[in-house]
Amino acid sequence: MSRFLAEPSNVWLTGATSGIGEALARQLIREGHSLVVTGRRQSALDELASLDAARVRTAPADTTDTGELARVGSILDSGEPIDIAILNAGTCEYLDIEHFDSELIGRNIDTNVMGTVRSIEQALPRLRRTRRLGRPAALVIVGSSAWWFPFARAEGYGASKAALAYLAHSLRADLAREGIDVFLVSPGFVKTPLTDRNDFPMPFLVTADNAAKRVINGLKKGRHDIEFPRRFTWTLRLLGNLPQALVDRMAAAMARDTSGNQ
Ligand SMILES: NC(=O)c1ccc[n+]([C@@H]2O[C@H](COP(=O)([O-])OP(=O)(O)OC[C@H]3O[C@@H](n4cnc5c(N)ncnc54)[C@H](OP(=O)(O)O)[C@@H]3O)[C@@H](O)[C@H]2O)c1
Repeated sequence: MSRFLAEPSNVWLTGATSGIGEALARQLIREGHSLVVTGRRQSALDELASLDAARVRTAPADTTDTGELARVGSILDSGEPIDIAILNAGTCEYLDIEHFDSELIGRNIDTNVMGTVRSIEQALPRLRRTRRLGRPAALVIVGSSAWWFPFARAEGYGASKAALAYLAHSLRADLAREGIDVFLVSPGFVKTPLTDRNDFPMPFLVTADNAAKRVINGLKKGRHDIEFPRRFTWTLRLLGNLPQALVDRMAAAMARDTSGNQ
């Protein structure tokens, strides 16, 4: 098991332009690491680069576009080999069950699952190169704890994050013999532009800075499953592991509460 970020490292970070990713970028820059930052919004990437032009390079891309990500791959190759790829870009669109919409579910899956998978396709050969140089290498996948309980309206988002958890654990098994560490980050509610759109109570909400701190601490300690805040994730695990019939009753009651229907 390797510990990361103890010394200046080269990090590729997706979803760096807002929320958890932006907070991660700012903290990593402050700690002296070098970053390649990815997102769709060039102006927000430039703002990060302005913090330290020598250590921050921008690599704009839409992670739903394989060609744009291939160009990021070339940018990664033009600098120091990356030690860590943090794949954090994601979206969340809730379903209105009255208007079941496969496109909406597809957008959650395309960005969260396939966007991460396309990014792994770029990261993995580069992390293998880092391993060949005798250095530790890590793939960090930002999932969610949301899928541990069947929340109403979260069919698309929850399914995408459940898929990411399986993907991360399966990759961890496959990559163990190459010595590439795979981390899965499963946050509870974090205050970001993504959750600012939510119209329901978000218990134990933490700030993006706090979330970034927990991710960085988890990487430093080599904790492969980084879950926070504990009060939320432990409660959710407990509820999600109750007998299914009980889980179904609670989930349906919560769905009625949020929709206002009986
Ligand atoms: N906030 C929470 O409570 C919470 C809880 C659990 C898990 N998460 C996960 O944490 C991650 C970050 O979420 P956040 O809350 O920080 O959301 P956010 O503030 O909306 O940030 C999302 C980031 O992803 C990027 N992104 C989205 N779609 C993209 C695409 N197609 N191509 C490239 N970049 C894309 C955005 O950049 P551009 O707009 O510049 O492209 C932005 O930097 C997501 O994976 C989310 O599912 C969040």
